[in-house]
Amino acid sequence: MVTVTKPRSPGAEAYRTLRTNIHFAAAARPLRSLLCVSAGPGEGKSTAVANLAVVMAQAGTRVVVLDGDLRRPSQHAIFNLRNAPGLTNLFLSAAETPGADLPLQSTAVENLRLLASGPRPPNPVELLASGRMEEILGRVVERADIVLIDSPPLVPFADAAVLSAKADGVVLVVGAGTVKRDLVRKAKAQLEAANARVLGVAVVNVAFDAASFGPYYEGDASPSGSPAA
Ligand SMILES: Nc1ncnc2c1ncn2[C@@H]1O[C@H](COP(=O)(O)OP(=O)(O)OP(=O)(O)O)[C@@H](O)[C@H]1O
Ligand SMILES: [Mg+2]
Repeated sequence: MVTVTKPRSPGAEAYRTLRTNIHFAAAARPLRSLLCVSAGPGEGKSTAVANLAVVMAQAGTRVVVLDGDLRRPSQHAIFNLRNAPGLTNLFLSAAETPGADLPLQSTAVENLRLLASGPRPPNPVELLASGRMEEILGRVVERADIVLIDSPPLVPFADAAVLSAKADGVVLVVGAGTVKRDLVRKAKAQLEAANARVLGVAVVNVAFDAASFGPYYEGDASPSGSPAA
């Protein structure tokens, strides 16, 4: 992760700028849960969630990453942790009582914890749409200053749209050059239909000429994107 391995690189700086922009976008109304979505697969949502979580935690914010991608979870792998127990266990457990501890895992980053997705369920949309999910999210929010939520692609799954109605804000991650314009339009329409509060669009993996910024960036002149992986 660029924010951990190259904190002074342009890619890491881009995530700090994103953090600031989110901060301003959220000034009017409190933002305790933020969902990252994208139109199609592989655009960089999970990478963006993890890096944004790191820069927020580095600023002293208590962050929980909630892996809401119950289909192809990846946050546990990014942070070198286990995928279970996690979110779906909270639906399974009959013994689960209000107030019982959440299976939060500490990460190597201070102030940053993970609620992994847990064992893969047969009915992700049903779980995510349930009142139980709302209750669980409420409990996670109590344990952090902000909860960053990962999700599967908006097209063709309903998961992210369902989650977008439960989160305080949504960031649409667009992989530069990887996604078709009409797919992004479709995603935007889905978010509007779900009444999501879209705070902004983060374009990732933009070609970036670090050399032209030489004096301002130390250490890394990687030409990789902005924000980068
Ligand atoms: N900004 C970036 N620059 C370069 N590579 C990136 C960037 N963001 C992500 N990648 C790479 O692209 C691949 C997909 O990224 P990622 O898993 O974050 O996408 P995703 O949108 O979460 O995918 P999925 O829809 O499968 O959940 C990964 O191999 C990741 O390392
Ligand atoms: Mg992902």
